Amino acid sequence: MSDIIKLLPDAVANQIAAGEVIQRPASAVKELLENAIDAGSTDIKLIVKDAGRTLIQVIDNGCGMSETDARMCFERHATSKITNADDLFKILTMGFRGEAMASIASVAQVELRTRRHDDAMGTLLVIEGFEFKY
Ligand SMILES: Nc1ncnc2c1ncn2[C@@H]1O[C@H](COP(=O)(O)OP(=O)(O)OP(=O)(O)O)[C@@H](O)[C@H]1O
Ligand SMILES: [Mg+2]
Repeated sequence: MSDIIKLLPDAVANQIAAGEVIQRPASAVKELLENAIDAGSTDIKLIVKDAGRTLIQVIDNGCGMSETDARMCFERHATSKITNADDLFKILTMGFRGEAMASIASVAQVELRTRRHDDAMGTLLVIEGFEFKY
């Protein structure tokens, strides 16, 4: 009998992993609001259409991201919140796994607009089907 076990393609593995984080639209809302809070926001706006199936929009006035960080935040295990195993014992943020944005991007069409307070220009990213459209 031949061997039957094979490694799943990254795209499939990512979607399975995403299912652990984003089970329904409410999970995406929770993750995005947690990110806004972790970014030090004092003003957070949430817009939801069709119970989150058509649109989930979160607008915050937190620290924002550089263009490089904005692209990086959609990688799995990419986080600004911890750097080593010791940090796991002193977590002060709502998130730390670096999974949420990657998970959301693997199950949704995503548009990200961000600007750090001191930057003159911001960044716009659009992701569809695991790919940056621009
Ligand atoms: N609204 C935001 N404002 C500023 N930076 C953000 C925002 N949302 C995400 N980020 C940045 O993107 C990174 C990745 O976000 P993501 O939610 O995927 O991971 P996390 O919050 O670090 O951990 P977790 O997966 O547990 O939520 C964050 O660590 C943060 O640096
Ligand atoms: Mg998060």
